[in-house]
Amino acid sequence: MSIGWFPGHMASARKKAAETLAKVDLVVEVVDARLPGASSNPMIDALRRHRQRPCLKVLNKADLADPQATAAWMRALVDAAAKGDRVKAVALSCRKPSDVAKLPRLALELAPHRDNALKPLRLMVMGIPNVGKSTLINALARRRVANVGDEPAVTKSQQRIDVSDQLVLFDTPGLLWPRIEHPDDGLMLAASHAVGVNAYIDEEVANFLGERLAARYPSLLRARYRFDPAGMDGPALIDAIAARRGFVLKGGVPDREKAALALLNDYRSGALGRISLETPASRAAMLAAPTAQAAAEEVEVDVPETDARNSADPDC
Ligand code: G4P
Repeated sequence: MSIGWFPGHMASARKKAAETLAKVDLVVEVVDARLPGASSNPMIDALRRHRQRPCLKVLNKADLADPQATAAWMRALVDAAAKGDRVKAVALSCRKPSDVAKLPRLALELAPHRDNALKPLRLMVMGIPNVGKSTLINALARRRVANVGDEPAVTKSQQRIDVSDQLVLFDTPGLLWPRIEHPDDGLMLAASHAVGVNAYIDEEVANFLGERLAARYPSLLRARYRFDPAGMDGPALIDAIAARRGFVLKGGVPDREKAALALLNDYRSGALGRISLETPASRAAMLAAPTAQAAAEEVEVDVPETDARNSADPDC
């Protein structure tokens, strides 16, 4: 599936973000706790490393994520920090004011010299669309300064917010990166509504989501839809949801589109329960597997070698 997800305004947003990085002490990168690897933008990491800025990684929407998977992610991030990466991680819900109240102290640990009114702590909040950046900023500012919305890329331009004489925030638009290497990343992001609805086909994304949920969270599917998903692949699961919910088109054909949307909405809203789409182990396995493009490139490389051998030995 191809996801057309790098709109023109994102290229200029990246340029602007690189300029603003020079003026801040650290980056607060908000990721989705249900998919912390897939929702972490490699471009943000490259930009902040280039400027040598530390990073507070916020695994947001932890209230929707599988607590065991989140604990595994936190362990993996602590390990990365122990190896010298200037990253601190926290898993929380930006919808909980008491969670958000912890952030300035954690940020200060990464920039301890910025602890007074003469040197206010300057945070740049970054992340892909729809991970909760605006929710976080509003909670930190304790007023509505950023537009919250479940439609990706609500924040279109950058703004500076003086929260107090000790804390300054820079809000940035959701940033995606130009080329997605692993198709599963694109599917996880689409399932979690990080890319605009026009960039993908609901049914394809729901097939992927259904298959992953049937493999990892069969009891949650059983509880929600009242059928046994054992052994079902994505399309079979969507058909079963359509049958169960009575989503039928003329001629008794299952309304797969409606069932796909129901599954996506149930996952997005948390109605299915607490779910994580990846763990550090599943991510490591995905990264170790060759991508479809790498496999295609290998085939392309093989062909001339075979041709060369054949032409060197005309008797073959
Ligand atoms: P963004 O700036 O990164 O694009 O994200 P934004 O804050 O607009 O949040 C996107 C959606 O995610 C919003 O949902 C928001 O309420 C929700 N959200 C943010 N943080 C959390 C969290 O910790 N837990 C949960 N469960 N949801 C979170 P929405 O439905 O559009 O908005 P609303 O109607 O809930 O306000």
